[in-house]
Amino acid sequence: MRNREARSLDDLVRPDAVNARVYSDPALFRTEMHNIFTRSWNYVGHASQVPAAGDFFHTQVARRAVIMMRLDDGDIRVLRNRCGHRGARIVTARNGHCNVLRCPYHGWTYHPDGRLKSIPLPDGYADTGLDVNDPGQRLPALRIANYRGFVFARLSRTGPAFEDWLGDARRALDNMVDRAPDGELEVAGGCLRAIQRNNWKVYLENLHDGMHPAVVHQSSIAASQAQQRRALAETGEVPLPVQIVQGNAQSLRELGALEVSCYAHGHSDMRGFREPRSNDTVFADYQAALEAGQGTDNATATLDLNIHNANFYPNFSVHPSFMQVRVLFPLAVNRTLIEHWTLRLKGAPDAFNRRNIVYANTVHSPSSLIKPDDLEMYRRVQDGVTEGGGLWISNHRRGDGEAGDGAHSSALSEQFIRNQYGAWRDYMDAPDAR
Ligand code: FES
Ligand SMILES: [Fe+2]
Repeated sequence: MRNREARSLDDLVRPDAVNARVYSDPALFRTEMHNIFTRSWNYVGHASQVPAAGDFFHTQVARRAVIMMRLDDGDIRVLRNRCGHRGARIVTARNGHCNVLRCPYHGWTYHPDGRLKSIPLPDGYADTGLDVNDPGQRLPALRIANYRGFVFARLSRTGPAFEDWLGDARRALDNMVDRAPDGELEVAGGCLRAIQRNNWKVYLENLHDGMHPAVVHQSSIAASQAQQRRALAETGEVPLPVQIVQGNAQSLRELGALEVSCYAHGHSDMRGFREPRSNDTVFADYQAALEAGQGTDNATATLDLNIHNANFYPNFSVHPSFMQVRVLFPLAVNRTLIEHWTLRLKGAPDAFNRRNIVYANTVHSPSSLIKPDDLEMYRRVQDGVTEGGGLWISNHRRGDGEAGDGAHSSALSEQFIRNQYGAWRDYMDAPDAR
């Protein structure tokens, strides 16, 4: 950062509070995009989205369009989606298959690994200084890491090494893969997308917030209680969506008993408060398949680790027990796109995988009973912070514990938010980002 900005960081972030400007200042947002999003590891997609050579998936990393591409040798590349001629987007489809990437403007073509393949009428470039064989003419490839099928990319040459960045937070991803009887995951269908009217950090700061469900989700809790009474009277069973909504009805004492763990680089995870185990045949069939595939001891240890949300700062969050993947794309200082994907456990009964789709529709769909409650609160926070820089946002709750790698607290603490701001400071203030 420039010196003036570096000095101003002390005016923006205190150990237990942050100035409202960090959510509303467009200049700070641009600095965040460069210092945080280009220098950290961003989740790009799941390897199962490009199963065969030539398959591609089109998305964004740090507000740059990128193409995740499967090559003939099985490797995955993440390429900038920008033609080397005049900069046109080469791909606009969300996903597809091609043997060659052909720019739709003047027809330059590229190999799937990004090398320039051909230019129409190449004689026109003789003695012009543009060498069509120059490796610099290729589509730039991002640094990538494929962790058990989860593909991450970093745009900048500088920033943390992947293994260091992921650290012990990896246990949530391990737990997801370990839940698959065949040891593999794959994306199930498309995704739910919602543009939120809030700064990107507002979303991440909600994901272990145990203080909010009883208040924000009061109406859906009340509705589900009525449904539960009716269902029990009529059938003696409570439908899964009702059980899921009821999870928000837990007392503050119960939520206070849920452990939240912090990791380096702003990551964190939280113990689950919805019980993914159940006494029905669907779960029994799944457990039998998992035990057959992974062994009884491994299956038990895997199912015992019930993580509700795990955040990988700054753009990725998963819910391991219900196979949910959330990808965060900052669009502007007050606009954030979130995509919700559900993963399928290979080797699990279809009925068990459908439960995770039910979870997505019940909790993450913009038309669910739950999601609009959160979106409305995020919007109200954004309205408040946009009014002026004099406001300080409190991160005091349970302020006695140090934030940082290995710190533990509960779902009633704001320690994980302080941990995120520790990472925010480190990224914003890094010498190699200036
Ligand atoms: S912009 Fe791509 S070929 Fe001209
Ligand atoms: Fe919520």
